[in-house]
Amino acid sequence: MAGDKPASALTRAEAKKELPRLARALARHDTLYHQKDAPEIADAEYDELKRRNDEIEARFPELVRPDSPSRRVGAAPAEGFAKIAHARPMLSLQNAFSEDDVREFFERVRRFLGLGAESVIGCVAEPKIDGLSAALRYEDGRFMLGLTRGDGETGEVVTRNLATLADVPAELNGKSVPRVLEVRGEVYMSRKDFADLNKDRKAKDEPVFANPRNAAAGSLRQLDPAITRRRPLGFFAYAWGEISEPQGASQWEFLQRLKSWGFAVNPLAKRCENAEEALALYRKVGEDRATLAYDIDGVVYKIDRLDWQERLGTVSRAPRWAIAHKYPAERAQTTLNKITIQVGRTGVLTPVAELEPVNVGGVIVSRATLHNEDEIARKDVRVGDTVVIQRAGDVIPQVVSVVADKRPAGTKAFKFPDICPECKSAVRREEGEVARRCTGGLVCPAQAVERLKHFVSRGAFDIEGLGRKHIETFHEDRLVAEPADIFRLAAKSGELAAREGWGEQSVANLLSSIEARRKIALERFVFALGIPQIGEATARLLAKHYGTLDAWRKAMTAAEDRESEAYGELVAIDGIGPSVAGDILGFFAEERNIAALDALVREVTVEDFSQPDGGSPVAGKTVVFTGTLERVTRNEAKARAEALGAKVAGSVSKKTDYLVAGPGAGSKLKAAKASGVAVLTEDEWLALIGG
Ligand code: IVH
Repeated sequence: MAGDKPASALTRAEAKKELPRLARALARHDTLYHQKDAPEIADAEYDELKRRNDEIEARFPELVRPDSPSRRVGAAPAEGFAKIAHARPMLSLQNAFSEDDVREFFERVRRFLGLGAESVIGCVAEPKIDGLSAALRYEDGRFMLGLTRGDGETGEVVTRNLATLADVPAELNGKSVPRVLEVRGEVYMSRKDFADLNKDRKAKDEPVFANPRNAAAGSLRQLDPAITRRRPLGFFAYAWGEISEPQGASQWEFLQRLKSWGFAVNPLAKRCENAEEALALYRKVGEDRATLAYDIDGVVYKIDRLDWQERLGTVSRAPRWAIAHKYPAERAQTTLNKITIQVGRTGVLTPVAELEPVNVGGVIVSRATLHNEDEIARKDVRVGDTVVIQRAGDVIPQVVSVVADKRPAGTKAFKFPDICPECKSAVRREEGEVARRCTGGLVCPAQAVERLKHFVSRGAFDIEGLGRKHIETFHEDRLVAEPADIFRLAAKSGELAAREGWGEQSVANLLSSIEARRKIALERFVFALGIPQIGEATARLLAKHYGTLDAWRKAMTAAEDRESEAYGELVAIDGIGPSVAGDILGFFAEERNIAALDALVREVTVEDFSQPDGGSPVAGKTVVFTGTLERVTRNEAKARAEALGAKVAGSVSKKTDYLVAGPGAGSKLKAAKASGVAVLTEDEWLALIGG
């Protein structure tokens, strides 16, 4: 795959294929990071994707796409908050990954400004705080408006939330405050506060935050400022946006003013005379990084003189006068004791490395993700190996590589299980996908709660009064393990009424809304089963096509043989391809799903599919097609007949109403004539169904 080649070796055609892939991936990770506060990859990995994108674009500038990640900053703001355009865009920073990148930055500045080798190019080096940036607008010294960065152009209004931070003064100190002053900086949560918050959330069974930055973002972006107030957030000020009168002649002076007005400025910030001094600070801070109270992911160098900043200007949404020098992700070596398999709520199997506990940048790590089957094979990770662990200040720690020379004798390549460790159902891997998935949807305990919630949801059984929380507690207390159990709750009404918060009346109400759903339309029933990829629309297609639950089940059993006519028929349904078909057949291939399905069918009545407009003359009729059709394909003819409510059969019998015969018709035509079945040409048929 082209993705494995270095960007410098890609052909133009490969580059053309890869850029949209990178754009999609980066856009997705942007959303996960900026809007959902739940990143899936480490910053270092993100940077790597971005760097690859930039490198390819630099080689093939004509391929740069309108939606190129290099043209966007962050992600669009989330719903829920008012949005306002920033007075001046909030920029991002260019990145440097090596000391040479930094030296090169200073040389670029020197060349751009036309300075000789003797000129001192001073800078301010500041830690790059791993939080989220915010803009605070003060008018006549009073805090008026607070915005998140959003996409850099437009931010979310979080004034009341920001006002709860101790580091955000309501009024500025001193007399010489500009009339309009927009202060920019970073909102963050300390590592200690992050750990405490997560401990607390765990105790309350609430989802924990992946890292301090996500915790800060999640805490700031609360619709209720009272929640933000209870979260310990800090703010380091480091820049300005709109300003009515310029302040000082240098970044350093500006930082001093910020302090005098009452802002917290990072104490590690330092004025440096040249690249080497700046690099010395980078190394020093790097050594202390693990013991800092908060996460940082690099050092930012900003050219100190503001007149030079002005001249340098910006290029593609980042200032030419600043650069972020990133720290590598924190790593350590340890022994891999065991590989366990976790089953997620959607049935995805994730391999987890159980490690000899090790300190990685100040955090004790005993488990790390191995991602998936292919990653284990690619890195050839084996139990007993010494592995390199990486914790990038965020997401779950990962196994980066194996230390080959430390491999003990007698290790064996890891074999990924083909049955689910939770429920022993078969595990399926979809073509073109990396994940292995448990097929025991209806019986797997790891998936049960999600499936049951889905089962009672609006588009499915839609059971009033049986919400997600009820499902969770009923499942926990073993009142409901599989869908059929819901319809057997009546037998446990005493037990229900004895539960906290329940009484006879509420139990009676619940049972009667369950009773009301004992009859269900086929399409809802199909949807309720929660088969991967079967949404409401696809469920309806299946219901419409097969008509009855019985017909559908029989067909799905027959379709297990991929050579069968039944399989051909399934994938011929418009909207159902091999991948969707694979998931349906995976479901039917698992015996325990069938047992759960049978149990359910004993409790409920599934109504045959009924066509809302039964007006077609062929509705309810049985049709057989034979010979060559010339105006439409056989599959299309069939689909249209079925859409109108006709049943399409494969052979002529007493039940046949019409035989549609094209050229080359043989035995079926004879049979039809012999038994007096109406025979139509293709044109006559089309006329009958209305063209
Ligand atoms: S200056 C015009 N200084 O890094 C430059 N940014 O990658 C504006 N950040 O969006 C940013 N610490 O969220 C600057 N001392 C610092 C920073 C810092 C953290 C963040 C900020 C920015 C991002 C850019």
